Amino acid sequence: MPHQVRGIIAGAKGATVKLQDILVPDPGPGEALIRVKACGVCHTDLHYREGAINDDFPFLLGHEASGTVESVGDGVSNVAPGDFVIIAWRSPCGTCRSCLRGRPWYCFASRNAQQPMTLADGTPLSPALGIGAFAELTLVDAGQAVKVNADASPQAAGLVGCGIMAGLGAAINTGGVIRGDSVAVFGCGGVGDAAIAGARLAGAHTIIGVDIDDRKLEWAKEFGATHTINASQTDPVEAIRKLTRGNGVNVAIEAVGSPITYEQAFYARDHAGTLVQVGVPSPDMKIELPLIELFGRGGSLKSSWYGDCLPSRDFPMYIDLYLQGRLDLDRFVSETIPLDGVEDAFHKMERGEVLRSVVVF
Ligand SMILES: NC(=O)c1ccc[n+]([C@@H]2O[C@H](COP(=O)([O-])OP(=O)(O)OC[C@H]3O[C@@H](n4cnc5c(N)ncnc54)[C@H](O)[C@@H]3O)[C@@H](O)[C@H]2O)c1
Ligand SMILES: [Zn+2]
Ligand SMILES: [Zn+2]
Repeated sequence: MPHQVRGIIAGAKGATVKLQDILVPDPGPGEALIRVKACGVCHTDLHYREGAINDDFPFLLGHEASGTVESVGDGVSNVAPGDFVIIAWRSPCGTCRSCLRGRPWYCFASRNAQQPMTLADGTPLSPALGIGAFAELTLVDAGQAVKVNADASPQAAGLVGCGIMAGLGAAINTGGVIRGDSVAVFGCGGVGDAAIAGARLAGAHTIIGVDIDDRKLEWAKEFGATHTINASQTDPVEAIRKLTRGNGVNVAIEAVGSPITYEQAFYARDHAGTLVQVGVPSPDMKIELPLIELFGRGGSLKSSWYGDCLPSRDFPMYIDLYLQGRLDLDRFVSETIPLDGVEDAFHKMERGEVLRSVVVF
């Protein structure tokens, strides 16, 4: 018998999201049913409801979540009922050409639940990023459920499922930041601040936060920025050179998703430096760079999908670092809200008032 619960539905492009009854099936083979405890409001949820991802309405929103395993289907061995888990949007298949090359973080056939969740009238729902966790229960592939230490606060833990992992991984996995490096992070929202926290964890010596909002720059310092630059008042490339003896940084991380900040990050690097693009651009954006500069400056230009993370390896580690007091995940939680507060939270996000609003159940 499917379970009838409430979920946040984006029914049409640009329409206000609604709390509606949904039906969630019991888990089939390889699936896990999760009782959601907390789910953060991410920019990507807003992109879905704006129709910027695809047109597969209605969407069941929510994808930065933690919860407890309610039940599992046949053949599931990685989690059991009662386990505290973070839900990942990457569940490597183990058999695609990328997994077989030993790069499961690029898995090209990542798994999701096979059975659809539906509206009460049977209309199938598209769960955001294959999760759909603005709901009391959600159905996922068991590989998407990653067991972590249950002492973690559910609202902090859930954030590791998306934006925070993307930022930490952009610095540590994609950027390869190591002890003594200089790092600049363009855009100090949740993702950029997590990149700053990741650079600090990895031992970076100079960490420069760049934003256009002074409030965001103050918060960036709390996560480990040693210097901040307001790019609406100062040319950030020049300011970064001044802070690095005229050289530029070893690793520049773009966490806005704009050609302006991409170009700034490109020129803010030292010779042979690394640029990491974690911000998601819109399809119409273009960038023009002199080819000689690409050649002459050397280094590498990388994109970071989900921080190149391997959830089963990375989530438990970051939760342990959090519980040891070495990674302040609680600081990312600006407020906790009820399930029907998602629409309001979108507006707060647009006004730049929060790093993350988190629905708690
Ligand atoms: N690659 C991935 O896997 C992945 C995962 C999650 C999110 N993201 C993307 O990361 C980006 C950041 O997400 P977020 O949740 O931190 O968003 P956010 O809106 O909270 O943060 C963006 C920040 O950029 C700042 N900003 C805007 N224009 C700027 C400029 N010209 N110069 C400097 N700063 C500027 C804003 O003031 C804000 O603080 C988004 O594009 C999001 O879609 C990527
Ligand atoms: Zn694979
Ligand atoms: Zn997200």
